[in-house]
Amino acid sequence: MTIPTMRSAAEVAARLDQDHEVIVETLKELLRIPSVSALSQHRGDVDRCAAWLAEHMRAIGLEQVAVMPTEGNPVVYGDWLHAPGAPTALVYGHYDVQPVDPLDEWERPPFEPVVRDGSIFARGAVDDKGQLFMHLKVVEAYLRDGGSLPMNLKFLLEGEEEIGSEHLDHFIADHVPLLQADVAVISDTSMFAKGVPSITYGLRGITYLQVDVRGSAVDLHSGTFGGAVANPIQVLCEMLVALKDGDDRVTVPGFYDRVRALRDDERKAWSSLPFDEGLFRTQAALPANRPLRGEAGFSTLERVWARPTLEINGIWGGFQGEGAKTVIAAEAHAKLSCRLVPDQDPGGVAALVRDHLLRTAPPTVDVEVTVIHSGRPSLTPIEHPAIQSGLRALERGFPGQHATFIRSGGSIPVVATFQDVLGVPTVLLGVGLDEEHAHAPNERFHLENFAGGMRSVAHLWEDLARTL
Ligand code: BES
Ligand code: ZN
Repeated sequence: MTIPTMRSAAEVAARLDQDHEVIVETLKELLRIPSVSALSQHRGDVDRCAAWLAEHMRAIGLEQVAVMPTEGNPVVYGDWLHAPGAPTALVYGHYDVQPVDPLDEWERPPFEPVVRDGSIFARGAVDDKGQLFMHLKVVEAYLRDGGSLPMNLKFLLEGEEEIGSEHLDHFIADHVPLLQADVAVISDTSMFAKGVPSITYGLRGITYLQVDVRGSAVDLHSGTFGGAVANPIQVLCEMLVALKDGDDRVTVPGFYDRVRALRDDERKAWSSLPFDEGLFRTQAALPANRPLRGEAGFSTLERVWARPTLEINGIWGGFQGEGAKTVIAAEAHAKLSCRLVPDQDPGGVAALVRDHLLRTAPPTVDVEVTVIHSGRPSLTPIEHPAIQSGLRALERGFPGQHATFIRSGGSIPVVATFQDVLGVPTVLLGVGLDEEHAHAPNERFHLENFAGGMRSVAHLWEDLARTL
């Protein structure tokens, strides 16, 4: 009989540092699979990515590993449950990635990962393959050669996060006993800034809509009819402009009704964060001297972390080819999304926006509004012991750096589902940087943060096992 080896987190962290180069080479294999969930032509790659992960999870010692079908892309599950009496964490990550367009802006092909200037470049490097891979490598380092983990772990890896996790809530509701845990852990967020490792305790929700405006049944000659009929593009623009007032406040009645006011202690804590407007501009790639813009009466951090928004994500219609064409298009279209904060309800806000657009539509056009997807906001109290464990783990994983609590303007809808359906809080221990081009060309992940993230996760399991 072999006696299981109880390694300390410090030993595991040291081993991960030692194995860094091999780990990066293996991550490249995962990054080479173009698992783009938005494009049906990549469905085979999505399945191949799920299979690659399942195989890797078995190889590192996870058990009950299975590629589990949903009505959309499969979920990959695996666990290690040999720490009786110790708590259980549910680790979530997503193996799908965003599309790569515009392809010609990539300095290297998006699915041919390379290491340059201390970062690994590829689509999915930071969002989220590199970050979910940290968790697998920590498991491997604990379990190798008959070792064991300080607590029980379950893995839930999703393939539809970037397209709204349409089938995940259903999957979770159908597998509550399988997924039951004391805490969820996700690495799919950013640090406040390089050198400031962070636990994210709040995420915004989202509701995504499409607006279709139709005038005539056909495109019209703009000489014959121009000036005498409504132009759907003009009408759509008027409707969109009217959605905000001069203070950049959303004019949809009831939009702000359920927005929870920022607590004074939170506002105070944020004002002491090392926020640097220059860095924020760099992250946003804004030319020097270009002013920021947002809702009147709020700071930049408040605008992105604690205020809801309405953004036009795309608009199209009419003639867009070379040269000129004198036409009044029959149709015009736009994609809109609202980022939401506690206690806004995505379905409720979608209905408010839709009803408002339908009510304010002039009789000269037909307007149709479709909800594409929605996700709820989330907020975890920073007093929660698991969140405090997360902060300590970061300080062990990034020695010499001071870790902090932040919120984020992005959305990970499953966090609200974990809270409501499984009754577990989520520790968002993410080590990306906002300047790493997630969703954009030349996505990258700083390898120093990748290494620090792995060390932190190694410490997190030891700390949570003691704390929960
Ligand atoms: N990793 C992001 C979420 C994120 C972004 C967290 C920025 C922290 C900072 C995630 O992969 C993502 O992009 N989510 C989508 C969700 C949407 C499609 C429902 C988002 O926020 O747009
Ligand atoms: Zn993303």
